[in-house]
Amino acid sequence: MHSSLTLIYVIMMNKHLLKLMTLVIAMALVAVACGPKKTNEKAEPQKVTPKMLVIYYSQTSNTKMVAEEIAKRLNADMEEIVALQPYDGDFKATIERCVKEREQGLLPEVQPMKANLANYDVVFIGYPVWFGTYAPPVTAWLKTVDLSGKKVVPFCTFGSGGLESSVKDLAETQPDADIMEGYGVRAARLAAVPAEVDYFLKANGFIEGEYEKLEDFAEQHPVSEEETAIFNAAVDGYPMLHAQAKSVAQRSIPNGTEYLFIAMDLPREENADMPPAGEITVYVTVTDGEAPVFTKVVR
Ligand SMILES: Cc1cc2nc3c(=O)[nH]c(=O)nc-3n(C[C@H](O)[C@H](O)[C@H](O)COP(=O)(O)O)c2cc1C
Repeated sequence: MHSSLTLIYVIMMNKHLLKLMTLVIAMALVAVACGPKKTNEKAEPQKVTPKMLVIYYSQTSNTKMVAEEIAKRLNADMEEIVALQPYDGDFKATIERCVKEREQGLLPEVQPMKANLANYDVVFIGYPVWFGTYAPPVTAWLKTVDLSGKKVVPFCTFGSGGLESSVKDLAETQPDADIMEGYGVRAARLAAVPAEVDYFLKANGFIEGEYEKLEDFAEQHPVSEEETAIFNAAVDGYPMLHAQAKSVAQRSIPNGTEYLFIAMDLPREENADMPPAGEITVYVTVTDGEAPVFTKVVR
């Protein structure tokens, strides 16, 4: 009796064990099928290169030079904004035409773009600063495009400044674009463009490579006699800049010092109709053995 009971028990247990083993094997198979796949391939990090377009307007080729430098460094596509009726007069004639167009609320017509913006993630937009903002052909072009969701990198050339004010206008015109601070350079300093563009593109991660990160400016302090002399030497001879330095901060740059002056704009005798801009910021660099130069004015 006892042994037959044992036999039944053993058979039942075996059945049970069989079910259990089947279950364990099934679970193991599922785990293998769903678990991480092991292959011999090395998982290379996927690097997606954004598609970049450099678009620019230039009347007298300064901005064109910067656009070409940027496009060359990025290996990016480039396109020029062309006014159907070109601004081909001299400085005075261009000013007069702009003033007239402004009074009449007119914008120049520009050629339709050849590039399809939908194909690009990053759009560099270059322009000369006219009347504190981008030149009218760029205003006209901006009305024909929607840069929503794109990374937009403004760059410009100017007599004394206008990067910040034009970028502010750009942000108002294209509120859903991701607009960067951008790069601006004085027409008188185009020789500095290759090195500055290199720094700008590296510092903002558009190209790889070593660069010397600039330190922040120190605290502002009232200008000394020596600093006033540096300021005056930097702005001397620039007709649109007649200002008195009040305070300054500085930082080291490769081979020299950069100064950030806060100055008071003074009335200009030769431009008596242009009221002073109040407090302005003037950036000045002094590189070893060279005379001070101002790099931009923020009004
Ligand atoms: C009509 C006109 C208006 C200008 N307005 C300004 C201005 O407001 N601020 C400034 O710093 N430079 C101004 N400039 C100087 C230009 O920005 C500068 O010369 C620029 O480098 C020209 O670039 P481009 O050669 O690409 O046309 C003006 C030039 C012109 C022709």
